[in-house]
Amino acid sequence: MKDLSTSTSRKRVLSGIQPTGEVHLGNYLGALRQWVHMQDEYECFYVIVDQHAILGDGDPADLPTRTIDTAISLLSVGLDPEKCTIFVQSDVPEHLELQWLFNTVAPVGDLERMTQYKDKAAKYDSIPAGLLNYPVLQAADILIYRANAVPVGEDQRQHLEMTRDIARKWNARYGELFPEPDAIIPEVGRVIGLDGDAKMSKSLKNTIGILADEEETWSRIKGAVTDPKRIRREDPGRPEVCNVYSLHKLLSNPAIIPDIKEQCMTAQRGCVDCKRILFDSIIDVIAPIRKKAFYYQQHTDEVCDILKAGATRARSIAIDTLSEARDRMGLNWTSAL
Ligand code: TRP
Repeated sequence: MKDLSTSTSRKRVLSGIQPTGEVHLGNYLGALRQWVHMQDEYECFYVIVDQHAILGDGDPADLPTRTIDTAISLLSVGLDPEKCTIFVQSDVPEHLELQWLFNTVAPVGDLERMTQYKDKAAKYDSIPAGLLNYPVLQAADILIYRANAVPVGEDQRQHLEMTRDIARKWNARYGELFPEPDAIIPEVGRVIGLDGDAKMSKSLKNTIGILADEEETWSRIKGAVTDPKRIRREDPGRPEVCNVYSLHKLLSNPAIIPDIKEQCMTAQRGCVDCKRILFDSIIDVIAPIRKKAFYYQQHTDEVCDILKAGATRARSIAIDTLSEARDRMGLNWTSAL
């Protein structure tokens, strides 16, 4: 058997992001902040999943721009191509072949029970097969690098279970090859939308883009829902049900949190003033990100080179894993000659 051990003793991490273009605060808090932290400690691979994205109803003409803008966001939040490998899924076609190999062990019944599948399938008259197989491609994205850990948002927990299950089933049949990766989900869990919707999502327009200017940022925060029972300025608030307070906890200096809480519960500070403080915290976080993004927007050639170099690095590993998987499944017919 080929030696597929990693070049370093560091554990491997893989995660993926949809090419939605500019990332938003929910993506940042829910996953990307971890991606940045992990690059110092682990051997990290971060993939922009354009082949997953074509399942959506986006205009194909926009996809290349969305892919590049997503890469710009990743670089701007602090991913460093010297420390991690950033690439585009379609540049490493081996993922798709491994997906097919996995389709031979992935149980349809389990795929049909995925919550995201059920939610999305309900919107179609005729469900595309790719929607059902989405988690199988995701498993291939991860396992082709034999990753040990996958930093993702709460909404991906079930997909990670599926990945582990596919690894287990495949290994049981063809011999141990794929590790069962752990999902690394930050404490924040799901960051809820500024409008109170359960999800922060660009399409719901209830988030703040990581590259938003101050005016835009303030207008989003100003409109954010707080404790629905705090109607008048003098009503005491309940921080534990307030989304603005949750965001303070995630973004503001921990030293000011007790004061934010206290002043709310005693109605000494109104929601607008509380939001102004949050605004300052958010600006502190996103100002340096915007500055980097501005640079990359002027230097898209550099972004392109980073992605191409990332794909080359990723591909060399993907080819080795795939070749081993093919061998074990009897697809290397020349071995009989
Ligand atoms: N399904 C993930 C999402 O929508 C994106 C994704 C694709 C992914 N492949 C992955 C995440 C592999 C982690 C690992 O956010």
